Amino acid sequence: MRTGADLAQIRINTGISVIVPTYREAENIPHLLAELDRLRRDYDLTLEVLFMDDDSRDGSVEAVAASGFDWARIVVRTRDRGLSPAVLDGFRAARHPVLVCMDCDLSHPVDAIPQMILGLASGQQFAIGSRYVPGGSTDDDWGLFRWLNSAVATWLARPLTKVRDPMSGFFALRKADFDAARGLNPVGYKIALELIVKCGMENVGEVPIEFSDRRFGESKLTLKEQLKYIQHLRRLYLFRFANAMYLLQFLVVGASGVVVNLAVLSGLQLAGLAPWICLAGGIGVSLVTNFLLNRRFTFSYARGRHAGRQFLGFVGASLVGLAVNYAVALWLSHKVLTGSYGLQVSAMIGIAAGMIFNFLGNRYIVFRKRYIRD
Ligand code: GDD
Repeated sequence: MRTGADLAQIRINTGISVIVPTYREAENIPHLLAELDRLRRDYDLTLEVLFMDDDSRDGSVEAVAASGFDWARIVVRTRDRGLSPAVLDGFRAARHPVLVCMDCDLSHPVDAIPQMILGLASGQQFAIGSRYVPGGSTDDDWGLFRWLNSAVATWLARPLTKVRDPMSGFFALRKADFDAARGLNPVGYKIALELIVKCGMENVGEVPIEFSDRRFGESKLTLKEQLKYIQHLRRLYLFRFANAMYLLQFLVVGASGVVVNLAVLSGLQLAGLAPWICLAGGIGVSLVTNFLLNRRFTFSYARGRHAGRQFLGFVGASLVGLAVNYAVALWLSHKVLTGSYGLQVSAMIGIAAGMIFNFLGNRYIVFRKRYIRD
């Protein structure tokens, strides 16, 4: 890693647009601008700073104007509010070839910016200010809950990226890469994770930062935002591991169908009905709940289409699955697995084959994708 002294020798020739999403940060704006001004003069940077403010009405506009810096602007947004949409709007409006995103609350050290820019100049696609690489840290005041919260959120994103701190809101990338990105659809706070996954960023550099807690104002990271993260993760997993995710959801729904089937069957039995009615009731009800859950969750992209036709297709796919199950099990038990437990093993393989057929029928025929949503 380069030291501060090394960095001071380096000239950064590229123009940099720093995008700062803000909501009620009037108190922090002058401090952040003073820090950025110091950096600008130290490195003789060509810099613009864009505050993307969600109509805070707390004096933020006046604070930017009072700085007198002609390289700082504030954009007041009244539609599509939220941290991530604000950042994306800022990236679109930026004038320089390198984009930096950072918080307004002084939790991100501006001195890490030159290191991030150099990372990009050396071929990295994305540079992130990281708390979780050697040299990085979080504030000592972080309680167990906040630490655990951050650790679990990072761990859940692990299969999507090897980056150690994809939750960071402090990062840099080239404007050209951003402009080429398609299908960005962030939910909530985790805009860096969205960009890394959707833009297929492989070469990501992590610059250690000491993350300090905000001194003024308060965090807007509410429980609602944290729940949105789960929704965001689901989308990103679907994007990255589409078929595995559909299959997993299909299997979970299938397992719920077994429970529904047994519960209905037992209820009807308790009511004293004949066994054939109990069995038919269990199958019928679980078929309907499986259909509804798959339509609502597994293949939610096809929810807008005709439910009746989809249900008939779903029943048809289930019947084909049953036929495949039976044929495979029968053939295996007759021709291949003729020894002890051959019938049981054949039945299990038959069930797996039937399920795969059932899944493929639903995925590619009954609930086929007509358009890419995300
Ligand atoms: N425009 C806009 N709209 N900006 C927002 C909004 C919003 O709805 N909500 C928050 N911001 C701005 C804040 O004003 C601040 O500049 C930045 O986004 C981060 O928001 P905070 O509320 O300060 O976030 P935090 O400190 O809890 O979260 C930090 O840690 C997360 C990881 O643990 C930030 O660094 C996040 O970026 C990071 O993801």
